[in-house]
Amino acid sequence: MFNDKVAWVTGSSRGIGLACARLLAEAGATVVLCSRHLEATRAIAAQWVSEGLKAVPKQLDVADYDNAQSVAAEILAEFSKIDILVNNAAITRDTLLLRMKKEDWDAVLDANLSGVFHCSKPALNSMVRKRYGRIVSLTSVVAQTGNPGQANYIAAKAGIIGFTKAIAREVASRNITVNAVAPGFIDTEMTRNLPESTRSKLVEIIPLGRIGSDVDVAQGVKFLASDEAAYITGQVLNINGGMYM
Ligand SMILES: NC(=O)c1ccc[n+]([C@@H]2O[C@H](COP(=O)([O-])OP(=O)(O)OC[C@H]3O[C@@H](n4cnc5c(N)ncnc54)[C@H](O)[C@@H]3O)[C@@H](O)[C@H]2O)c1
Repeated sequence: MFNDKVAWVTGSSRGIGLACARLLAEAGATVVLCSRHLEATRAIAAQWVSEGLKAVPKQLDVADYDNAQSVAAEILAEFSKIDILVNNAAITRDTLLLRMKKEDWDAVLDANLSGVFHCSKPALNSMVRKRYGRIVSLTSVVAQTGNPGQANYIAAKAGIIGFTKAIAREVASRNITVNAVAPGFIDTEMTRNLPESTRSKLVEIIPLGRIGSDVDVAQGVKFLASDEAAYITGQVLNINGGMYM
């Protein structure tokens, strides 16, 4: 399905990014695994290559514009193209706005929103020349519903939705689709520290009655990255067990 495709997945050392990378690799893609710590992605890539999958590790801090440009240049030097970009890397620095430090705001906006710009720009440059591309960016259900204590995270995630629609219109004529996936409450290290009382309250408002898995989200990302999704662009795919409809 993805045999001749090169897929760049940011923040792919764990969680949803790792699950997306794995599904794409299992479907035949050459996957560029990226995280701030090269050792993490190097070990994963080595394991996957030993299983017959195609994976290469890179060190990347998406908040660093120059770092993103040089990683993109390395991918292009090695594989001549970037077919798929999954903008997954993100952090949280949750606190009420009145207590939020400027550093908390800047760190989240730099990684979660500017990071999407830093990687999408060089990826699109290659996609436009090849007249083919798929960009899928991870937003969040809270960008649609709001949530106290997450103004920085939600501003970035809502920004991704606007960015997605703007770029989708810019590059549609070049056979490039640009979409977002909005997960609900997913069991990863990002959410594992929530108190048990908060987790059970959240499950109560999920019609499907369970917390989502990283693979639940990765299946949607894989679909939007595939040729089957060729006529879908500028959309937000909600993967949230029905908690927001
Ligand atoms: N877990 C959830 O419930 C949930 C819900 C909605 C949206 N999301 C979104 O899904 C995506 C993945 O979330 P997750 O739950 O797997 O989180 P996670 O914290 O488990 O993984 C995030 C990954 O991004 C990487 N990362 C963070 N900052 C980075 C940077 N500056 N440069 C490069 N890599 C960086 C981390 O190292 C990690 O590999 C994120 O965009 C997140 O906002 C998650």
